[in-house]
Amino acid sequence: MRVAILGAGAMGRTVIGHLQKCGTVQEITAYDTSRESLEKTRRECGVEGSTSLEKTLDDPRLKLVFITASNAAHKDLALAALRAGKAVMCEKPMANSLPDAVEMAREAARLKGFLQIGFELRYSLLYSTVKKWIDEGKLGEIRNIQCNYIAEEYWRSSSWRVKNATGGSMFGEKLSHYVDLPRWWSGSEVEEVYALSSPNIVSYYEVRDNYQATCRLANGGVSHLTFYMPFGETTDTDDPLQDMLDRQKDTGHELRYLVMGASGGAETDVFNRTIKRWAYRETPRGFESKIEETITWPKEQDHFYFHNTHDQTHDIVRRVQEGLPPSISPEDALETMKVCEAAEMSVGRQEAVKIRDL
Ligand SMILES: NC(=O)c1ccc[n+]([C@@H]2O[C@H](COP(=O)([O-])OP(=O)(O)OC[C@H]3O[C@@H](n4cnc5c(N)ncnc54)[C@H](O)[C@@H]3O)[C@@H](O)[C@H]2O)c1
Repeated sequence: MRVAILGAGAMGRTVIGHLQKCGTVQEITAYDTSRESLEKTRRECGVEGSTSLEKTLDDPRLKLVFITASNAAHKDLALAALRAGKAVMCEKPMANSLPDAVEMAREAARLKGFLQIGFELRYSLLYSTVKKWIDEGKLGEIRNIQCNYIAEEYWRSSSWRVKNATGGSMFGEKLSHYVDLPRWWSGSEVEEVYALSSPNIVSYYEVRDNYQATCRLANGGVSHLTFYMPFGETTDTDDPLQDMLDRQKDTGHELRYLVMGASGGAETDVFNRTIKRWAYRETPRGFESKIEETITWPKEQDHFYFHNTHDQTHDIVRRVQEGLPPSISPEDALETMKVCEAAEMSVGRQEAVKIRDL
């Protein structure tokens, strides 16, 4: 199969690495508006590219494209690729605005095309273990989900991510993963969001750098996210994720979920590389918790336990080759977009926003 990367930056090169390990992909090509990005990709990955989208898409051997360009380009690239009859995997956020994302989902439905959005945390061994426990009924109905995400980041002042026009919003660019998981785990849609944000700490971010956001779920449950990204530019590494875990541990940083169900709970802790599950039992004195499972993983397995883009890439290739639908439908991804939009809107309006009013 022939596959193209639309956007030959850091993420594009990561996906190329996964594709090169996937035995069923024979040819990889790249498209980017920047010659510099294409040259870097040729040098580092051995993949040739073009600055012509038309030429890239006008190739009957090309079956699948990965949209790994910066966020502002997602909609136009997705529409062009779908209209050219290609299967599309588009990085999160689906788009930089809700109307753009709606248009993408509509076009995929009209053309009966393949469109999957990059929520690779659904492939992670860490978070899919929680999903498995929930589906097996080990936690009972989900009542309360708490995410504490307090992590130093590596966005430079020159990054497209720090500007609203190019990055979109912090919710779309970064937190879409973390509002997608509670929806997926609980199987219950978000109905209402109330979010607050204090003035930024990182002065050069135009996008917000902190939130307290609470979601009401359709099953009556509540999901809350505490997010701070307080310090910029403290690392010069090319592997910020690895660096993040090793350098920030024990200095007040965490990425932890507590998932509480009616009959048990689970905790995921990225910095301590641990997943735990406990069950409640009724005793004559009242309820007690008992740890049932604790899983840890070595640093070498971080990719598979955390942002598992490897398995996501291979699964998408397989699905397209076998004519299967996406594992996450465009409509499903759109619901996560709505939560992101509602959260940003709620901060601006200083009131709760109902998803049905969007
Ligand atoms: N799923 C994840 O956890 C994850 C992690 C990193 C990045 N991403 C996503 O991947 C995308 C790219 O991020 P990155 O870190 O590689 O950024 P990057 O800045 O390294 O690369 C972006 C590339 O897009 C190119 N580009 C911009 N506009 C374009 C257009 N109209 N057509 C073609 N190419 C264009 C740029 O020239 C650049 O080469 C973003 O959407 C980001 O959110 C997702």
